[in-house]
Amino acid sequence: MSSKFPPAVTAIDIPGIQKFKSGKVREVYDLGKQLFLVASDRISAFDCILPDGIPQKGTVLNQLSAWWFEQTGDIIRNHMISIDPKDWPAPLQAHKELLAGRSILAHKTEALTVECVVRGYLIGSGWKEYQRDGAVSGITLRPGYQMADRLDTPIFTPAHKAESGHDENISFEVVVERYGQAMAEKIRDTSLALYSFAAEYALTKGIIIADTKFEFGLLDGELMLIDEALTPDSSRFWPADTYTPGQSPFSFDKQYVRDYLETLDWDKTPPAPPLPDEVVAQTRAKYVQAYELLTGRTFA
Ligand SMILES: Nc1ncnc2c1ncn2[C@@H]1O[C@H](COP(=O)(O)OP(=O)(O)OP(=O)(O)O)[C@@H](O)[C@H]1O
Ligand SMILES: [Mg+2]
Repeated sequence: MSSKFPPAVTAIDIPGIQKFKSGKVREVYDLGKQLFLVASDRISAFDCILPDGIPQKGTVLNQLSAWWFEQTGDIIRNHMISIDPKDWPAPLQAHKELLAGRSILAHKTEALTVECVVRGYLIGSGWKEYQRDGAVSGITLRPGYQMADRLDTPIFTPAHKAESGHDENISFEVVVERYGQAMAEKIRDTSLALYSFAAEYALTKGIIIADTKFEFGLLDGELMLIDEALTPDSSRFWPADTYTPGQSPFSFDKQYVRDYLETLDWDKTPPAPPLPDEVVAQTRAKYVQAYELLTGRTFA
């Protein structure tokens, strides 16, 4: 790794603080009524965590989510309390060298077991389902779409949030069974409103948000946006200037990593192979570029 950036932070341990859960990317600490989420620099591809991290990726993701939380506060309340170490409990402030930038103090909610996916363009599993069924998650679409086409209207295609393994697509009716008609409609309509707001804004910055995934939680019965939002890890971001319907677009995310891994003779089961410096640097540059284009800020 070149010495231009600090080393990737792939393992995080805060002595004396109870760990709530360790995800593929985030370490989550339980502070009682609050959670403390630390985004590591880990990267996964084909559902495997890779041995090498992407320096400062966690910081980019955390700061981009926080920026979106600020922009979308009047669409829906979100879990953010503060990303500023001075607002954190003293035992966490004590580790601010490691934690500042990549961490958020948040309201602890009862997380929904539904991943709220919104698609504005037909790609990935949505494109596959459409070709097979003419529908995505039970929503029938008009004929004639090509790969990567923009949908006439964005669609809500929820997935079950699996404890482990792959998330599986579910119909809107399953969301109704879990949370009731009124709450299910609120979850769907809020997801669509967040997507439309963000997609319209991003386009003015040269980025297409092809699809994205939101997570919500309940706090005293109130719906709240949680986790990360509208980042290259939870969304497909495409550069608008090279977008061509019918072709698989290049995205602002793990594409370099996936493309590189596809050149190897690796069977996509753990352990994943190491990444060359060049792939790490290119991937990092893409994450930073997405952050800078969207927020108009320089990544420090
Ligand atoms: N405010 C919140 N209240 C409750 N749970 C939350 C909140 N914010 C985030 N979470 C949960 O914390 C976890 C964040 O970890 P991370 O994103 O690394 O894992 P993940 O997406 O669940 O799993 P993986 O990335 O391993 O598939 C998620 O399970 C998310 O649902
Ligand atoms: Mg996650």
